[in-house]
Amino acid sequence: MSRPLSPTPPMGWNSWNTFSWNVNEELILSTAEYMVSEGLLDAGYEYVVIDDCWSEKQRENGRLVPDRKKFPNGIRPIADRLHSLGLKLGIYSCAGTHTCGGFPGSFEHEFTDADTFAEWGVDYLKYDYCYKPDSADGENLYRRMGMALRCCGRDIVLSACCWGKDEVHKWIRHTGAQLFRSTGDIRDNWDSIKTIALSQLDKTYFSAPYCHNDLDMLVVGMHGKSDNSWIADVVGGCSDTEYKTHFALWALMSSPLMVGCDIRNMKPSTKNILLNKDIISIDQDIECRGPYVIRQWNNPQKVFALVKPLYDGSYAIGMFNFGDRTNEMSLQLYDMGLPVSSGRGLSLYDCYSHKDTGVFSERIVQNIPSRDCMVFKARAVRL
Ligand code: GLA
Repeated sequence: MSRPLSPTPPMGWNSWNTFSWNVNEELILSTAEYMVSEGLLDAGYEYVVIDDCWSEKQRENGRLVPDRKKFPNGIRPIADRLHSLGLKLGIYSCAGTHTCGGFPGSFEHEFTDADTFAEWGVDYLKYDYCYKPDSADGENLYRRMGMALRCCGRDIVLSACCWGKDEVHKWIRHTGAQLFRSTGDIRDNWDSIKTIALSQLDKTYFSAPYCHNDLDMLVVGMHGKSDNSWIADVVGGCSDTEYKTHFALWALMSSPLMVGCDIRNMKPSTKNILLNKDIISIDQDIECRGPYVIRQWNNPQKVFALVKPLYDGSYAIGMFNFGDRTNEMSLQLYDMGLPVSSGRGLSLYDCYSHKDTGVFSERIVQNIPSRDCMVFKARAVRL
């Protein structure tokens, strides 16, 4: 047992964004090998999550059964292999009668299913919200699975996935869940990234150690490649700049980081984004504080900074330009609580060049290209 679980946002890979219904043993095991060989495990990505569509369509003797074609050897050997690589296994079920893909859900089977997952060596359960009977109370259903996992004899993270419905941020912590999806499903396009991030700017303070606001799986590096055309979207994915900004937003907002691309075929630029240790360290800061927002006075909707206090006394500063042309951000240090009269300025470290960039007093002025961002770690110093 390794409780307490998930002091910081969980990191890993999830099958849904790229493979959706096409999950199978070979995919999961080969992905796991690449998690290790590509350096993802070393960077902190430890969960390999099999999303929806892994089971037979019917229970047998009241139990969930892995699809015999996709998982001919069952789930246990996969868990064993992952554990031998230093990884952890995640699986998926649903609080309703069926999963979103139409497979059996855990409604009224919560305790049996939690025991089954424990027997299989599962470490993480993504728990969805489709086909919830109208008469059932959602909060109670998450309490139930929270309870079932807490008495199944194994440490299993509960990843609640009710898409921000029913004011989930107000009650999810009480259910024992370690993370909660706060928005609808992400798609591989800039609009989706932007909409999700903006919708949660005023809700990151509900996120804290042991229970994290999940902005959904990453689309970084998908570039429009998915078996699921709804996720891939007609525009064919995002640019590397947009993926870079997406990753920075998720990190500044302390979201779980679940990779959604095919990591067996990553471009160097994708690896660069996903393996940026400085950005990851902002996401994984042990205090898990949500950021506050400082908007550019003359362009407040498109240009803004997120400021997140870090455990070591420094601050992460992300400057974002959601506009369609280069825009200036002029961050007044006064707005961060650093008036000129303090005799102090900010010493900056650039999280992309990985270099110190000098000491700034009064303000930090930067030109930020369209849909790009800058991320710094900043420390107050005497001038
Ligand atoms: C919902 C979830 C997704 C994914 C699918 C699977 O839409 O929000 O993340 O798990 O179900 O069917």
